[in-house]
Amino acid sequence: MSPPHSSSFVIAVDGAAASGKGTIAGRLAAHYGLPHLDTGLLYRGVGVAMLKAGAGLDDAARAAEMAQALDLSKLDDPALTSAAGGEAASRVAALPAVRAALFKLQQDFARQPGGAVLDGRDIGTVIAPGAPAKLYVDAKPEVRAHRRWLQTFARGEPRTEAETLADLIRRDARDAGRADAPMTRAHDAVLLDTTEMSISRAFDEALRHVEQARRRWEALRT
Ligand code: C5P
Repeated sequence: MSPPHSSSFVIAVDGAAASGKGTIAGRLAAHYGLPHLDTGLLYRGVGVAMLKAGAGLDDAARAAEMAQALDLSKLDDPALTSAAGGEAASRVAALPAVRAALFKLQQDFARQPGGAVLDGRDIGTVIAPGAPAKLYVDAKPEVRAHRRWLQTFARGEPRTEAETLADLIRRDARDAGRADAPMTRAHDAVLLDTTEMSISRAFDEALRHVEQARRRWEALRT
């Protein structure tokens, strides 16, 4: 069954950690003048709040409370983008109560009248299954680890490239293996493998696919 026709132009960008999805989503948002939500930051916000509170990362009730109380104006805290923040995010993201607490906020963002760009793991499958444009961004783990290591190195985080690769592989396995909203390509998402691509080439490819999707969506509206 095909998903219902979406009345707003939603671009869903899913994919693995350090695949380039966040940068691509940000550039698509700028290109189309659409608001952008990096949904990974929501899970990072909950994970880091749990760490700061000294709570166990498998304490579902506490994590769900933290998710409900999440302060969206604090999502620019640099602690969220650390390796520890990513790991904590992935742990709390496996808890159905946390996903449920963050669901409406994301769906409301996707449903705003002018359209929106969201990036994450389950946008095309769970949050906005009717999105007219869906991308699933991936790249070889070694290439993703190298990109992520360059970012963390620049920030002065003491992680080796091998540790970064091990972190990514463990996080991918947890994200893809969880029962609730696992990381997976929606059947109607275009796969964009950025292993051999510069970020500007990856954006050009993404834009080409999204433009095709936009033309199909426009044609259905008229
Ligand atoms: O995208 P980012 O790496 O910042 O996401 C951090 C973690 O948040 C992911 O590893 C994943 O476990 C979780 N996440 C999720 N669903 C989303 C976005 C992120 O489960 N839509």
